[in-house]
Amino acid sequence: MFRRAVCPGSFDPITNGHLDIIERASRLYDVVHVAVLVNKSKKGMFTVEERIAMIEEITAQYGNVKVESHAGLLVDYCKDREIPAIVKGLRAVSDFDYELQMAQMNHGLTGVETLFVPTSPTYSFLSSSLVKEVATLGGDVSHLVPELVFRRLTERIAERSAGQTD
Ligand code: PNS
Repeated sequence: MFRRAVCPGSFDPITNGHLDIIERASRLYDVVHVAVLVNKSKKGMFTVEERIAMIEEITAQYGNVKVESHAGLLVDYCKDREIPAIVKGLRAVSDFDYELQMAQMNHGLTGVETLFVPTSPTYSFLSSSLVKEVATLGGDVSHLVPELVFRRLTERIAERSAGQTD
């Protein structure tokens, strides 16, 4: 009987903050699923396939992390794979209200538990959207994302600015 948990998110792209939580979860559980949730109303910087490829390469070192996409409810992903626990990072009190709502909703739907891991203070200000904004405007984010992500981010920003007509 494997002890399983899922780390869900958009991961557009994965940051060192996400990786910190996934790594810590991988030490607590036999198998950690990283679920890249598809949000059809949001156009990301990276496709879901690109996000998965980056996460797979970066988390291969842990040996017990499985990366998949999912379109739909997180509780259905958990039910289909018999995953009893969702692991989420909490960066600050500002995260708590919404995370608590989701945890209570998910528990009410299927009984799945949510476990909160306090984010390392080094990453308490970090989010994928801030990383993208800072990188797009020329700021250095090399210390905030894994090296592979930094390379892909730099390439994507260069492609985008080359494609701009104005
Ligand atoms: O990285 P994000 O965007 O902050 O992650 C949020 C995410 C994807 C974990 C959350 O929006 C989610 O669980 N979406 C899946 C759809 C779902 O189950 N919605 C009901 C939540 S109670």
